[in-house]
Amino acid sequence: MDALLLVLRWSHILGAVLLVGGLAFLRFAFVPALEETDEETRNRLHESVRRRWLPFVIIGITLLLVSGLANFLLFNSAVKEQGWANGQWMRQTSYHAIFGVKFLLALAVFYLSSGLVGRSGGTAWLRRDRARWLGVTLGFAVAIIMLSGWLRNLHTGPAASATADPGVAMEVMTPDQAAAEDRYEDSQAGSAFRGDDSAGPATDSETSPASTPAEPVDAEPANAAEQAE
Ligand code: HEM
Repeated sequence: MDALLLVLRWSHILGAVLLVGGLAFLRFAFVPALEETDEETRNRLHESVRRRWLPFVIIGITLLLVSGLANFLLFNSAVKEQGWANGQWMRQTSYHAIFGVKFLLALAVFYLSSGLVGRSGGTAWLRRDRARWLGVTLGFAVAIIMLSGWLRNLHTGPAASATADPGVAMEVMTPDQAAAEDRYEDSQAGSAFRGDDSAGPATDSETSPASTPAEPVDAEPANAAEQAE
């Protein structure tokens, strides 16, 4: 399982780097450089780059979609099976709401970035004002990266402290403070996601009494076990 998660993570990050890096290069280097050329040269170079870049956009989108969906489904089933926060974790952290916004933005990025390197008449309006639409697409992509980091922080990371309110009251610690609490030693962050039975929320939720949604007793997924020990 660990190996599969690692491959999915590599694929997702590679897809994001490819797609977003390409957009940034086109917006801030290629398109401005072409402004200095005459119209005929500009059209020729646009066509030439478009043709060469298209397969990479398709590869990037495929990597992101396949790895993202697999990751999402695996994570959801792990959280459910292990009963994080007595089955309340997704609701308490608003994970699905944040993911929903990210997914919609990702669909917009896929549409815009393929339209910008496509040939269809239906997306010609995008290519008539490339600089603007590249900028909009990049803005969406930056928002997606921020939302993704947020999602990840909800269940991993050594900087999270044990709290009854996950994702809200996360304390940022200095490396020294964290080391003093053994947070980096044999880190258990994400252990529940990895299905490591020796740590994580499954142990907590199995042993603690049933809590009401208003009173999450074992809400911190990855690091609460460390605190309890
Ligand atoms: C432009 C499109 C996208 C970008 C730039 C993007 C970027 C990222 C980044 C940077 C991460 C954090 C990776 C890590 O730290 O390992 C991430 C995580 C993730 N992404 Fe995406 N992503 C995109 C599209 C998608 C799509 C389409 C899906 C689902 C269908 C998806 C599902 C996920 C999931 C489930 C995670 C893990 C979140 C967590 O840690 O809880 N992503 N994404």
